[in-house]
Amino acid sequence: MSHRHAHGRQEGFDENAAEKLEWSDALLLGLGPMDDAHEQFVQVVKALAGCNAVTALGCLQAVEDHLLAHFDTERELMERTGYPSMDCHLDEHQKVLDTVLQVNQLAKAGQVGLRDVRRLAAALADWFPKHATYLDSALSAWVSKQRHGGAPVILRRHIARFVEHESVQPEQRSAA
Ligand SMILES: [Fe+2]
Ligand SMILES: [Fe+2]
Repeated sequence: MSHRHAHGRQEGFDENAAEKLEWSDALLLGLGPMDDAHEQFVQVVKALAGCNAVTALGCLQAVEDHLLAHFDTERELMERTGYPSMDCHLDEHQKVLDTVLQVNQLAKAGQVGLRDVRRLAAALADWFPKHATYLDSALSAWVSKQRHGGAPVILRRHIARFVEHESVQPEQRSAA
């Protein structure tokens, strides 16, 4: 437990991380689509941690489906805004996705026990807060900056038009 990676590896993770994982305002990053995805991440991972022999396969599939959509949402945000640190972030997504795809594949073939499934849930729960704090928050800040950086241009255009119009009758400007 002395050394932990933020790269989705399974060694040295907190085995009780899924019990500790709770959705709260502390996890909000201020960007709707990402916050929605993160709230859903907490739901599906907690469901996976609490699965039984009957529900395990469904819970695994739910995590896989969720991750595909979640990571797609973030990739789209990166592509649309020309995010500069895309490779590192997508690389981490891919490692996590590969692990889930692999476990789900093995589970479908009946080669994974409940204990392994719960360990996967703990590994995901252990990985997520670090990923959200370091990589997703940086992406959220970048996207917000791009959006707010764009808004004043529109505002300035309106002001320019207003000033242009007003300058025809300069004597009225002091009254406005
Ligand atoms: Fe995320
Ligand atoms: Fe991410």
